[in-house]
Amino acid sequence: MEDIIIGVVALAAVFFFFLYQKPKTKRYKLPPGPSGLPVIGNLHQLESVNPQRFFAGWAKKYGPILSYKIGKRTMVVISSAELAKELLKTQDVNFADRPPHRGQEVISYGRRDMGMCHFTPYYREIRKMGMNHIFSPTRVATFKHVREEEARRMMDKINKASEISEAVDLSELMLTFTNSVVCRQAFGKKYNEDGEEMKRFIKILYGTQSVLGKIFFSDFFPFTRFLDDWTGQTAYMMECFERQDIYLQEIVDETLNPNKVQPETESMIDLLMEIYRNQPFTSEFTIDNVKAVVMDIVVAGTDTAAAALVWGMTYLMRYPQVMKKAQEEVRDYARENGLTFLSEDDVKNIPYFRALVKETLRIEPVIPLLLPRNCIKDTNIAGYDIPAGTTVNVNAWAVSRDKKEWGPYPDEFRPERFLEMNIDFKGTDYEFLPFGSGRRMCPGMRLGVAMLEVPYANLLLKFNFRLPDGMKPEELNMDVMPGLAMHKAQHLELVPEKVK
Ligand code: HEM
Repeated sequence: MEDIIIGVVALAAVFFFFLYQKPKTKRYKLPPGPSGLPVIGNLHQLESVNPQRFFAGWAKKYGPILSYKIGKRTMVVISSAELAKELLKTQDVNFADRPPHRGQEVISYGRRDMGMCHFTPYYREIRKMGMNHIFSPTRVATFKHVREEEARRMMDKINKASEISEAVDLSELMLTFTNSVVCRQAFGKKYNEDGEEMKRFIKILYGTQSVLGKIFFSDFFPFTRFLDDWTGQTAYMMECFERQDIYLQEIVDETLNPNKVQPETESMIDLLMEIYRNQPFTSEFTIDNVKAVVMDIVVAGTDTAAAALVWGMTYLMRYPQVMKKAQEEVRDYARENGLTFLSEDDVKNIPYFRALVKETLRIEPVIPLLLPRNCIKDTNIAGYDIPAGTTVNVNAWAVSRDKKEWGPYPDEFRPERFLEMNIDFKGTDYEFLPFGSGRRMCPGMRLGVAMLEVPYANLLLKFNFRLPDGMKPEELNMDVMPGLAMHKAQHLELVPEKVK
C-alpha cells in the first residue's frame, strides 16, 4: 500500500512539474499513433505481457510505422519487411545507436561492451575485433566439443527421467545446458551443475538480466532520478552491478595469475586479456572493457538459445505431424549412418530439421522486437519525420507473421515453407529477422544456432514426449515472459520415453 501511495504522489509531482513547462520542440510530422496524455504520453496504454502481440495489434490500427510517446521520448515501431529494410539497410547508419537506459549504462561499465555501446569509433573497433575473433567460424568451431559434451549430459539426465516415466522441466534443463556451455566458452570454467559456484553464477546472471530489462523513471522523465532512488531501483541496480563486478574481477584475477592451469581451449576472456595487454585500439582497452564485453557474451549467449529450443518443442507438441516427420528424418539419418548421437556436422545434412530450426525462429523470434535503435539525426521514413533521439523497434514477430510475405497461414507451424522458399536468417531477407540485420545485427548468430541445433536434434532422435497429467496440447500456455530474450512464461514440462 505504501508503495502505491509513494508512486501516486511521485507521478503527480512529475505531472504538475511538466504541465507547466512550455513545449520547446519544433513541429514534426510523426508517424500515426494513439493519442496520449500530457506528460506521461501513452505510458498508461502499454501492456507488458506479450508486447510483440500488443504492438502488432497497434500496427493493424495505425499501419506498419507507428509512433507513441513515453514521457518526452518519441518511440517508433516498424512492422513490415519493406520498412525494416529501409531502417536496417538503406538508413542503417542513422539508426546504429542504442537509446539511453540507466541500468544498461551501469551494468555495461559505461557502455564499454558491444550490445549497448553507443555508435562510436570504439564500438566499430570492438565489433570488428568480435567478428574476426570472438565470433569467427574458427573460434565457434573450437568449442564444438564443449557443446556436444554438454548436450550429451543433458540427454543422460532426460534418459534417467525416462526410466521412471518422470516429467522433465525442459526450460530448466536447457538453461543449465546454455549456462554450462557459456561458462566454458567465456571463462574456461567447468562448474558442477548443482554446485555452489554455478548457483552463484546463475544468481548474478539473473540480477544482471533483470537490471538490463528494467524501466527507470529517469530514462523517460528528466530530473526524476530521485524517483529511481525513492522506489529502490537505484539501490537494486547497484547491488546487482556490484555482485556482477566482484565475480568478473575474480575471473580476471585468475587469468592474471601466472600459476593458472591452462584451460583445454583458449577461452573468450583469455582473448580479451590479450587485447588488454596489446592495446591495439585507438582508445584505451581497460579491465572494465574486458569485463563489459565478457558480460555481453554471457548475457546474450545463455538466454537466447534456451528460449528458442523451448519454443520449438512447445510448437512440436502442438503439431504432432511435424514432430513425427522431424523425428523420422533424424532417426533415419542416424540409422543409415550408424549413429547414436547427432553432432554439429551431422545436423548440416538433415534438410527438414534445418527447416524446422528456421521455422522455430520465425514463429517465435526470441528477441521479438529486436534490440532498440536510437535515431542519430533527424530523418524521414515512409514520408514521416523521425527526429534525432527517437527510439525505434522493429517488430520482427509481426513481420515474420505478415500474410503479405508468408502467404495465407503465417500462424501455422510449417517447416515445409523453408523447403519451398529460399529464405535465410542472415539479415538480408527482411521478412525473417530473428538475428536482426545491418551494423548491429547479432554477431553471435553462428554460435547461437550451434547451441540450439545439437540439443534440439538429439531430443528428436532419442525420445518421444508426452504432456504430463493428461494435459492437452491446446492447453499449453503460449504467453511470453518479458525480458531481453522472451522465454515462454510457463516452463515446459514433458514426460520423455526413450526410443528403443
Ligand atoms: C538463438 C540465439 C540468438 C538470437 C535469436 C539472437 C538475436 C539477437 C538479436 C535480434 C539482436 C539485436 C540485433 C539488432 O539490434 O538488430 C542481437 C544482438 C546481439 N547478440 Fe544475439 N542472438 C542469439 C545468440 C547470441 C549469442 C550466442 C551471442 C554471444 C555469445 C550473442 C551476442 C549478441 C550481441 C553482443 C549483440 C549486440 C550486437 C551489437 O549491438 O552490435 N547473441 N542478438
